[in-house]
Amino acid sequence: MNKDLEVFGVEEKELKKEIEKVFYWLHRHPELSYEEHKTTDFLKEQLKAKEIKILDLPLKTGFVAEIGTGKQPIIAIRCDIDALPIKEETCLEYCSELNGKMHACGHDFHASTILGAAYLLKNCEKELKGTVRIVFQPAEEAPGGALDVLETKVLDDVQAMHGLHCSPLFDVGTIGIKKGAVTAAVDKFKITFKGKGTHAAHPNDGIDPIVAVSSFVSTVQTIVSRNMNPFSVALVSITHIEGGNTWNVIPETAFLEGTARTLTVSDRRKVKERIFEIAENVALANKTRAEVEWIAGPPPTDNDEKWCLFAKDIAKEVGLKVETTPSSLGGEDFAYYQEKIKGAFVQIGTGKSYPLHNPHFKVDPKALFPAATFFAKLVKKGLERL
Ligand code: NI
Repeated sequence: MNKDLEVFGVEEKELKKEIEKVFYWLHRHPELSYEEHKTTDFLKEQLKAKEIKILDLPLKTGFVAEIGTGKQPIIAIRCDIDALPIKEETCLEYCSELNGKMHACGHDFHASTILGAAYLLKNCEKELKGTVRIVFQPAEEAPGGALDVLETKVLDDVQAMHGLHCSPLFDVGTIGIKKGAVTAAVDKFKITFKGKGTHAAHPNDGIDPIVAVSSFVSTVQTIVSRNMNPFSVALVSITHIEGGNTWNVIPETAFLEGTARTLTVSDRRKVKERIFEIAENVALANKTRAEVEWIAGPPPTDNDEKWCLFAKDIAKEVGLKVETTPSSLGGEDFAYYQEKIKGAFVQIGTGKSYPLHNPHFKVDPKALFPAATFFAKLVKKGLERL
């Protein structure tokens, strides 16, 4: 028997087979954010078969399970379960059976890993020094599933919470762990410049919103290059512009939207302030009016230093190679939990592959077993530490 599994009393071969089976099923049946009904039912069935308690919560999709004493301390582990509207092009034997939907972000891997950890923890339930809540979160891609889980208050009495994302940058057997932010605050903005429509031959009779919108696009580039500290990380991208519909009419309005990404609260505030200032003043300079709509997404992730050190020790104990997670300006709604609960969000190497969200993306199922063992041990020893 694998020595890491001795504490859990589980046969390695048996466990591998079980979680791989779950992974293949999930991969074949991808469901989009807030539509994860079959996924939820399937995962619940697997846990119920092991007599793992499912908590009664007002979640339409996704759920929370519980193992342990039912008393303090409490550690939560979280996986997400939703897929993407992408047509799979991997030719895998277990490829998506639903045209136009795919687990292209590896959330099927996350769910099977955390399910495997749950099996292991159930097997040594009597030895647990507290409680573990296992969150199967819906709608990470939406994003907002994390907020739905938080709203149920099921995490109000939790002392630590850990999560994972698969990484196609790391080989199987490697784990990425880093304190602080590993993903960015993701904000979205939409701006409409309102002018006055007129004949293209008589611009003086109107107010041209196209000139205003163009001026905004170039001026907004100065936020990163001129306003931010050169050592900080910030990004502003304009990704969509619309204005007018023919060659000889100056339109009434012009529209643009884009995204701002930052890694700290103060940088996030500064970028937002500057976008509003530039919109207002560019509008004024061009005699237009700017209407700005700001849609705040998740904050940056914020990994706790102590839990990261602890996770590194556990990773080494189970034979994983520890690397530093490369920072990404992508978003991750696990960050909402980290505003309230300390913990570590780690990257599990699933073998080099096409990037996340690519139709050719795939994970190596060999990464499931070591990841499940890592999480089970992280929780078991974590409870002893608290
Ligand atoms: Ni993802």
